[in-house]
Amino acid sequence: MSAPQASKSSGGFLNDLRILWHLVVARATGNTHEERLESFYKGQAGGYDSFRKRMLHGRKELFDLLPDSPGGIWVDLGCGTGENAEHWGERLKSLQRAYLVDLSSSLLKVAEQRVTDRGWTNVTPVHADATKFVPPEGAADIVTMSYSLTMIPDWFLAVDQAYRMLKPGGLIGIVDFFVARKYPAEGLVKHGWSTRSMWPLWFGSDNVFLNPDHLPYLLSRFETVSLSQRRGKLPYLPFVRAPHYLFVGRKPVDGV
Ligand SMILES: C[S@@+](CC[C@H](N)C(=O)[O-])C[C@H]1O[C@@H](n2cnc3c(N)ncnc32)[C@H](O)[C@@H]1O
Repeated sequence: MSAPQASKSSGGFLNDLRILWHLVVARATGNTHEERLESFYKGQAGGYDSFRKRMLHGRKELFDLLPDSPGGIWVDLGCGTGENAEHWGERLKSLQRAYLVDLSSSLLKVAEQRVTDRGWTNVTPVHADATKFVPPEGAADIVTMSYSLTMIPDWFLAVDQAYRMLKPGGLIGIVDFFVARKYPAEGLVKHGWSTRSMWPLWFGSDNVFLNPDHLPYLLSRFETVSLSQRRGKLPYLPFVRAPHYLFVGRKPVDGV
């Protein structure tokens, strides 16, 4: 099948320059979180996928870790352009319904175009806040968030909302940037002072908030199915690697 229009990247150096302008020079403006997201993303939506492929690592791998869920409900919170739906591959068709949820209209428009181009009849893009969304069916089998937790100011509400909407035994899959606590718990990586100081400062200028508490909070709410903590390249920055984690967790079967 040929690539759908929505995911066809307007790639190349000029696209990179445009995206870099938004990442490095332009500042998001607006009085609300939604307005700030829109001002940040509206000039980047077309070339988003091509640039973020080289920056947001582990997304395909996260979906390879998740089991098939025939007849299941999948919710992607902070879906952006909806590229995660591609990562299910053929398994997407076996889901009863997929909800692609985002608060940025520009990115969601790309997701809507992707759904139309792909002819996905079981995928619904939704303009909504991840801290409040509940699927119409009332519960989900799988909730995912790729690089969205760090962009949600009330991130703990988003995690709580994911927990609430999951069926007992349901799975959460998260991939995102992070920094470790100064004194991490056993099993969690230790980051030196420069990593713990530099990356929050670097990403904070784009309203991406790396937080040492994200991973400990996820570990406290869900049973760990798998966790890896690693580093990945960033475009045009050959000598540095930003830390990210991949977490798959299960809501306890007796969880309410
Ligand atoms: C870095 S992007 C990641 C997008 C996509 N998941 C990906 O992997 O490419 C973060 C996304 O989170 C969305 N977002 C931020 N806060 C949100 C909120 N409160 N509710 C829904 N989406 C939100 C942004 O609009 C953006 O699309």
